[in-house]
Amino acid sequence: MKVGVLGATGNVGQRFVQLLDDHPWFEIDALTASGDSAGETYADAAAWALPDEMPDGVADTTVRETSADSVSDDVELVFSALPSSVAKEVEPEFADEGYIVASNAGWARLEDDVPLVVPEINPDHLGLLEVQRDERGWDGGIIKNPNCSAITMTPTLAALHPLGLNEVTVATLQAVSGAGYMGVTSMEILDNVLPYIGSEEWKMENEPRKILGEFDGARVDEADINISASCNRVPTVDGHLENVWCRFDDDVTADDAKEALRDFTTLDLPTAPEQTILVREENDRPQPRLDRNAGGGMSIVAGRVRDDGDKRLKYSCLSHNTVRGAAGASVLNAELVAERYL
Ligand SMILES: NC(=O)c1ccc[n+]([C@@H]2O[C@H](COP(=O)([O-])OP(=O)(O)OC[C@H]3O[C@@H](n4cnc5c(N)ncnc54)[C@H](OP(=O)(O)O)[C@@H]3O)[C@@H](O)[C@H]2O)c1
Repeated sequence: MKVGVLGATGNVGQRFVQLLDDHPWFEIDALTASGDSAGETYADAAAWALPDEMPDGVADTTVRETSADSVSDDVELVFSALPSSVAKEVEPEFADEGYIVASNAGWARLEDDVPLVVPEINPDHLGLLEVQRDERGWDGGIIKNPNCSAITMTPTLAALHPLGLNEVTVATLQAVSGAGYMGVTSMEILDNVLPYIGSEEWKMENEPRKILGEFDGARVDEADINISASCNRVPTVDGHLENVWCRFDDDVTADDAKEALRDFTTLDLPTAPEQTILVREENDRPQPRLDRNAGGGMSIVAGRVRDDGDKRLKYSCLSHNTVRGAAGASVLNAELVAERYL
């Protein structure tokens, strides 16, 4: 299937280009960015920042303007790594023209007819694409993956939910790549921690409730879990680490929780990791440098799972914010759509 990448020159866009290189189902046909980059080769327009070399096939590709007119009709699906303000204008245009948009951008994640999907948790929410098409008159549709900090803890919450999870407190230590290529300056972040990330706490407190909610064929009834988040930017490059405190209806042991985490659903899709949640036993894991690439950057790594008194547990979890937290999540969503709908 021919695909396009919107916002291909940025942090997340580069991850898309890397993950789509040699993908068994998808082939890049179009790369788009802002008017400043349009007309340049991808090699000139993208300040390539990944350790692996830029894939051969894309270096000489001409970057296009980001509009449905600039993408060929042969393309069925586009990945969006656009800033949210731009995505809000552009993504509906693509959906209206018949493209499936697998989007990272924050806008519309909580709108009633927009599927916010983690394939291992709520693949059935894809049914909202039909609702969306009916309501908006689109031939295509928009499917979202969660914010990079929300997606780190949400699979762990999904694994623990059947044990009677009712309350979550979380503090994050988020890598600088999560702010985008031009996001935080070295003078802001070196020798420092920023204890505020705009709108991040709100996303963490709300997105998991929708993802863990019940889809009844028309709408999603959000899960009844109280979540309180405190988000911090720290001077790591990639990998969001999160400390989570959970409360349950009844006592749950750390061993029960570890078993539920280890046994959580895995999928047979090209980008799905062999194990969705890895549980480490060492006292000093997970760590961003050591654990962010687990499962090709698609596994969530949990550790320090321990009792915390009356009906409470606490643990740490980590994922790669531009892979599981962004481009990899969109590619996995697209694989699910392709397998079930296209
Ligand atoms: N970084 C993460 O860990 C992460 C995780 C989850 C979700 N996200 C979301 O993913 C999206 C991309 O994030 P990022 O970190 O990759 O940002 P970024 O590094 O700033 O890249 C932004 C991309 O959008 C393009 N762009 C900017 N303004 C545009 C316009 N007016 N028209 C068309 N294209 C435009 C840029 O092209 P030029 O190079 O030409 O400017 C670039 O390709 C954001 O919505 C972000 O919130 C990011």
